[in-house]
Amino acid sequence: MGLGLMGSALAKRLKGAGFNVILYNRSLDKARRLANELNTYVAESPAKCCEESDVIAIFVADDNALVDVAFMPNGFIEKSSGRDVVNMATVSTGISSRVCSVVENYGGRYVEAPVWGSVSEVLEGKLIAMVASNKELSKNVQEFLSSITQRIIYVGKVPRAMALKLALNQLNMVIVATLAETLSFLKIYDVDFSYFEDLVRGSWMESIVTRFLKRATGEYPPRFKVELAAKDLQCFIESARTYQLNMPITAAAMHRYLEAAFHGYSDKDYPNVAKYILDSIDKKTK
Ligand SMILES: NC(=O)c1ccc[n+]([C@@H]2O[C@H](COP(=O)([O-])OP(=O)(O)OC[C@H]3O[C@@H](n4cnc5c(N)ncnc54)[C@H](OP(=O)(O)O)[C@@H]3O)[C@@H](O)[C@H]2O)c1
Repeated sequence: MGLGLMGSALAKRLKGAGFNVILYNRSLDKARRLANELNTYVAESPAKCCEESDVIAIFVADDNALVDVAFMPNGFIEKSSGRDVVNMATVSTGISSRVCSVVENYGGRYVEAPVWGSVSEVLEGKLIAMVASNKELSKNVQEFLSSITQRIIYVGKVPRAMALKLALNQLNMVIVATLAETLSFLKIYDVDFSYFEDLVRGSWMESIVTRFLKRATGEYPPRFKVELAAKDLQCFIESARTYQLNMPITAAAMHRYLEAAFHGYSDKDYPNVAKYILDSIDKKTK
């Protein structure tokens, strides 16, 4: 359920591994195109998709999308009895816990399985999954997860896997937003980035700069979109708020991604938050 970058790759991987796959996507055309390519079929609603499946894998964008596929008319929730609902989308801990409670009330099993890795890791079955469930994992879920992962980290009950995933993305995305400001600072002083790369060589900062410099300043096909980076930081802040914990540094980084999304960088690869600031400097100095 959810055939964006990750969901489509997941469908391909599962089909290749010999699973019977039924596709659902809000924009049905996308589902139909992929169904033709994979020689499988499309469910017209989340409820239908759930009814026809043993394991429901959800890869929608965010909290609202999860609420929509679960609770809107023809949502999956009412058909979840006796089924395994595996939520792989990164969402707030509160929403994940709520969907979990309702699925369990209907007699289904809810598994949080957010992942580390992107499209290529899905296609190669090399994701790292963080897994939490209030119940024992069924054989079907174990088989499903082992066909797409290289490593599984079990963290106990819901929403611990989501908390672990949000912590991972928070650190990653805040570092990248910080690097974006570092690069913009160098740019206004006309210091070539290669001096900075040279300077940090051999230090702990080298791997960050080496990994992100090209991706931050160039145009690459998106692995993870700017708008989703903003969403992940928002989920982190929202999930911390449940415990009255304020996260001002994360909020500042989130605003950078939101600004970039607002100015047309929404679907670009998230390190392009730097490109957004660098392009703004170019526009200002022209
Ligand atoms: N990309 C990555 O590297 C990566 C890695 C780990 C985790 N994740 C997480 O995995 C999830 C999917 O990421 P992605 O990169 O595949 O995103 P994506 O390419 O933007 O796809 C988002 C999917 O969500 C659907 N959607 C959005 N709003 C919806 C709504 N209100 N109701 C129903 N469906 C809705 C979209 O349907 P339409 O086609 O109709 O728009 C699309 O299928 C996100 O939670 C993301 O944080 C992504």
